[in-house]
Amino acid sequence: MKETIAQIISKLALMPHPEGGYFKETYRSVGELKEAHLDSDYNGNRNYATCIYFLLTSDKFSALHRIKQDEIWHFYDGSPIRLHSISEAGIHTITVIGPDVLKGETPQFVVPGGCWFAAEVIHENAYSLVGCTVSPGFSFDDFELKSRKDLTALFPDKKELISKLTHH
Ligand code: GUN
Repeated sequence: MKETIAQIISKLALMPHPEGGYFKETYRSVGELKEAHLDSDYNGNRNYATCIYFLLTSDKFSALHRIKQDEIWHFYDGSPIRLHSISEAGIHTITVIGPDVLKGETPQFVVPGGCWFAAEVIHENAYSLVGCTVSPGFSFDDFELKSRKDLTALFPDKKELISKLTHH
């Protein structure tokens, strides 16, 4: 499996993502939304939309982070993913993103903007390949990755969950 994963990473030219896993931007619209037309918490212009390939492995999860805009996840291949979200009000939700609709998996899922979220591959010795689309387009200026300590201060009753879903 390690070899297959290495081949997919190489074929799709994926790079390590700061939240964990590997990604490659596949689309960035030429058109831009001007700052004046965006919510006031955006700093500067943004492309209309962007899309990435995102690959997680059984030992490389996506750590809790958040972005300002909704993020649409599309399942492509491999193991289903357990996606955790913690709303700003502290509600923890688990969604299984995967191909098996009859088992209750969802091939497409929208993570609401502003909530903290993390994702892990469900099966052992496996990978998950998904697409993530956002509009307005992605900018690392809208991306927040907090430490275990800072997130635990925000959600003290979620200490164990946060510990599992953060890298440090
Ligand atoms: N581009 C770089 N990182 C990301 C990400 O985490 N999500 C999306 N949608 N695009 C990205």
